[in-house]
Amino acid sequence: MAFRDAAARFASGVTVAAAAHNGVQHVITATAFASLSIEPPLVLLALDRAGQLIGLVRAGGHVGLSVLSAEQEDIGRTASVRGRAPQASVDEAPTTVAVTGAPLLLGALAWFDCEVESISEHGDHAIIVGRVVAAACSDGNPLLYFARHYHRLGMQLGEVGANR
Ligand SMILES: Cc1cc2nc3c(=O)[nH]c(=O)nc-3n(C[C@H](O)[C@H](O)[C@H](O)COP(=O)(O)O)c2cc1C
Repeated sequence: MAFRDAAARFASGVTVAAAAHNGVQHVITATAFASLSIEPPLVLLALDRAGQLIGLVRAGGHVGLSVLSAEQEDIGRTASVRGRAPQASVDEAPTTVAVTGAPLLLGALAWFDCEVESISEHGDHAIIVGRVVAAACSDGNPLLYFARHYHRLGMQLGEVGANR
């Protein structure tokens, strides 16, 4: 369908979204992520309403978003395999917790530890708005996703005009 092919032309970074509740944790690869507001700090994430993570996000009231580095392609691949059973610990990668109790990947390029601010349903996905209660980042290069393949950064272009 033209819609899916067109959407695949939007290059993005890659996150792993995670939540935990009652001793059960789950992580999935997610690219439908954006920073939404600076004050207060909010992010948004679109989650498949038929997937397993959204139930844990609702129950736990939190979501952890870890931005994958170029060295974490394997984690992106394993965390996108459908039907993995949520478990007591995350098999895909070593994790830690910060404030909310959401799992965060060790070695990620950046992470956002979020309380759920709102969940709204749109078609087959839900938009999770997360209030960022802790965040961190490290030096390194991102994993990228474009046209259904993983990529690394290419040539840097000129300076941007606006200071974002
Ligand atoms: C590159 C990539 C990006 C993805 N982005 C999202 C996303 O933003 N939201 C989402 O719900 N699923 C996304 N998925 C699909 C989930 O990773 C996949 O459906 C999930 O691992 C299914 O887990 P489950 O069977 O436990 O629900 C993406 C998959 C890949 C390969």
